[in-house]
Amino acid sequence: MGLRAVTLPLAALHALAQTYAGADRCGECHPQHLATQSETAHAHALAPASQHRLQMPFAGVEARRGQFRYRFDGLTARVDNGVDVLAVPLEWAFGSGEQAVTFVSKADDKHHLEHYLSYYKALKNFGPTPGHRQLQPKSLAEAAGLLYKTKDPANGIDGCFDCHTTGNRSENGVRCEACHGPGAAHADSAGMAKVLVPREKQNEFCGKCHRPPASDPASIDWNYAWNVRHQPVYLSRSKCNVTCSTCHNPHQKLAANYDAACRNCHARTTPECKPSNCAGCHMPRVSPEPPLRFTNHWIGVYSGGSNLKPRTRK
Ligand code: HEC
Ligand code: HEC
Ligand code: HEC
Ligand code: HEC
Ligand code: HEC
Ligand code: HEC
Ligand code: HEC
Repeated sequence: MGLRAVTLPLAALHALAQTYAGADRCGECHPQHLATQSETAHAHALAPASQHRLQMPFAGVEARRGQFRYRFDGLTARVDNGVDVLAVPLEWAFGSGEQAVTFVSKADDKHHLEHYLSYYKALKNFGPTPGHRQLQPKSLAEAAGLLYKTKDPANGIDGCFDCHTTGNRSENGVRCEACHGPGAAHADSAGMAKVLVPREKQNEFCGKCHRPPASDPASIDWNYAWNVRHQPVYLSRSKCNVTCSTCHNPHQKLAANYDAACRNCHARTTPECKPSNCAGCHMPRVSPEPPLRFTNHWIGVYSGGSNLKPRTRK
């Protein structure tokens, strides 16, 4: 690459250092990264319900739950008990739809509602949002969904937005600067000012959202299937000594298969192994609440029907 001359007052550079530029700006010089990243689940992890890429059939959706009846009418969710009807506009759509989409609406100044019905790709249909099925609503308001505090360090709705947006919510979805940090200074200096490249301690880095490896493995319930969705926690138990980008290109959609990555280190396998789909046996799928399913990132030998914990060996 040739030498590029860019003059910028230092003070301006400092001010820019904390400023987000947005993915489109990054794409001016990194068009290929922008093109493929825009296709990922990351990029679509959050959208206004009206703009979700699946353009779901919002009309004609109907479901029953005891005395309650649900109907989506354009961008309005209606629930009735045969006497009264409660209507709530669908505001936010969380989830790219690779697995599921859950709707969230502002309820009042301090609360948000997580709607009862979510969309499941595997069903091509709507069903109870994870965690709602077992509830027994007594009122229309309870039937509409779960009310969360907007601000609450433990499980406030602000937390949902933090993990599903970029740059203090300046962009919906997980875009460039969710991983590379604020990049305005880098963009305005034509690459002279550095951005963060999360190569080191990557499992911890991705773990900011995917949950970090446990400092004490004894604190994790390895028999609880929902924990499998916390990939860094499980990967850190593997003997393979790999990071996320050994297998995943952070700028591309999930790959079709990972055999080449395995073979890089395991040129020879044992007779029990088949030559392809290594992950199918050594990283089995776990379904904590069908149809959601996650991949067990604790790479190992699974036997006796257990998909949660591999066989241990001295
Ligand atoms: C005006 C052009 C330009 C824009 C806009 C731009 N970059 Fe760059 N970027 C560059 C150049 C040139 C390099 C190579 C710099 C080098 O090799 O030292 C680079 C390198 C990078 C690298 C690799 C750095 C490394 O140390 O390996 C990353 C990551 C990156 N850019 C991310 C971004 C992100 C994120 C944005 C948007 C916030 C962005 N870039 C916007 C020109 C640009
Ligand atoms: C700002 C939070 C955040 C960070 C940081 C983050 N992710 Fe994600 N990631 C998400 C969310 C949210 C989803 C769910 C996307 C969806 O809605 O389907 C996701 C989904 C994924 C998927 C599934 C993609 C698919 O096509 O189904 C992979 C793989 C992944 N992340 C890998 C990584 C890796 C590797 C890193 C670190 C280099 C990382 N993530 C960093 C939030 C994050
Ligand atoms: C700590 C970060 C974090 C928080 C907080 C968070 N999410 Fe996510 N969310 C993720 C990640 C990471 C994924 C991808 C999980 C995977 O595929 O393994 C995801 C995936 C999803 C999906 C896609 C379906 C699935 O399970 O993969 C939906 C829908 C979703 N989140 C909704 C929400 C809602 C609603 C909230 C708040 C009540 C929320 N999320 C809070 C990080 C977070
Ligand atoms: C989920 C986290 C994540 C997101 C989102 C992300 N990157 Fe990256 N990026 C990485 C990681 C990790 C590396 C280092 C990859 C490696 O060394 O294997 C990287 C490397 C790069 C590089 C260096 C060349 C390369 O491909 O290794 C450029 C340029 C870059 N990213 C630009 C972008 C741009 C532009 C966007 C948005 C369109 C973006 N990145 C979004 C995590 C991310
Ligand atoms: C960076 C190199 C590397 C990559 C990539 C890698 N492994 Fe490994 N793997 C290792 C090492 C090192 C060990 C530990 C060997 C030992 O303890 O004898 C190991 C151990 C294993 C074991 C035995 C685990 C146990 O509990 O005894 C299995 C099974 C395995 N790997 C399968 C895979 C599969 C499948 C993939 C691809 C999805 C993969 N590995 C990718 C390096 C790697
Ligand atoms: C040894 C290879 C390998 C490594 C390393 C790896 N993954 Fe995966 N990952 C996979 C495979 C295989 C799948 C299943 C892909 C599919 O369903 O098409 C997967 C799927 C996922 C998914 C989609 C949801 C799920 O659980 O099926 C997410 C999110 C994810 N990985 C995140 C991560 C993160 C974060 C890291 C680093 C902590 C990581 N992965 C490291 C192989 C790997
Ligand atoms: C049909 C399921 C299956 C597939 C597919 C499979 N394996 Fe295995 N693999 C096994 C079983 C079972 C064992 C345990 C053998 C034993 O009892 O020692 C094993 C053991 C291993 C071990 C540990 C060997 C040791 O010395 O302990 C490695 C490494 C491994 N496989 C890698 C791979 C790779 C790489 C692939 C893809 C090219 C692959 N496997 C495909 C079933 C499979």
